Amino acid sequence: MGFLKWATSPWGQTVPIHIAWFLIWVAVIVGLVFLIVHAAYMLLFGKEKEFAQGATANVSALPNRIPRHSLAARLFHWVMAAAMFTLLYTAFMPRIGTRFPWVTYHWIAGTVLAVSIVFHIVHATFYMDFWSIWPDWTDLVDGARRVLRFFGKPVPPPRKFAKYPLENKLFHGVVMLCGLSVIVTGVLMMSRIRTIFFPRNPYLYSDMTWGLMYVLHGLAGVGLISLVMMHVYFGIRPEKWAITKSMILGWMSRDFYLKEHDPKRWNVEGKG
Ligand code: HEM
Repeated sequence: MGFLKWATSPWGQTVPIHIAWFLIWVAVIVGLVFLIVHAAYMLLFGKEKEFAQGATANVSALPNRIPRHSLAARLFHWVMAAAMFTLLYTAFMPRIGTRFPWVTYHWIAGTVLAVSIVFHIVHATFYMDFWSIWPDWTDLVDGARRVLRFFGKPVPPPRKFAKYPLENKLFHGVVMLCGLSVIVTGVLMMSRIRTIFFPRNPYLYSDMTWGLMYVLHGLAGVGLISLVMMHVYFGIRPEKWAITKSMILGWMSRDFYLKEHDPKRWNVEGKG
């Protein structure tokens, strides 16, 4: 059982041509196992989160609705989500039985994803708090404390979160790697098919390079199946609903902010 599909090039060289499609099912099963184990754990052993007593916020200076995502950031998120679902559907449904002319829908959705990500990079670099999504030292120390407490070790509770909890930051990092992989390879792969952007040129790279590119595109693509499943699962969990709602409405309640966020690490005083 190989993880890749191979073929012989016109020059007699054995080259990979893409991933073996059973990996689609592996990714679906990984996603399902993750969410079943997590849901069962939360149901049987889940407790209220405990945080260390940290800085106290000046509650009177806080707005009732804590602004979390600007309109531009929310529009980006939902456009990207629509492109992502279209890409997953058009890429994998034809492999598991539903036949339709998927390539055109796929590269159009791919273009939407690529453009939305370029927008996001510029927006995040120049207009948002760029560093808020990268783990900092406090996240790492608190992450280690949470793991040790899980195993019953007597360590102090973690501090409250900055704007994003460590899990969200790590998820963003992994999705970014998979997303950039499908985008860079996908844009290059567009020269193998007919699109409105550049003339078709399947001889741009050697058969081996094309093969490896299709493999990377496929691996990152199936990785995104599990990642998207986990993301949607957390989005609909009741204790995360305040966060999901903020991606729709743009704000979260002051109570939720005070419960989970450290005003020193994510200062929103005076921001209405
Ligand atoms: C969620 C993201 C994506 C997934 C899951 C995905 C998945 C796939 C899969 C499984 C294939 C078939 C590859 C093969 O036969 O080995 C494919 C082909 C392709 N994808 Fe994607 N892709 C994604 C994003 C993109 C993006 C962002 C672009 C363009 C910017 C793109 C452009 C293409 C092109 C041009 C092909 C080649 C079609 C062909 O050679 O017939 N894809 N994609």
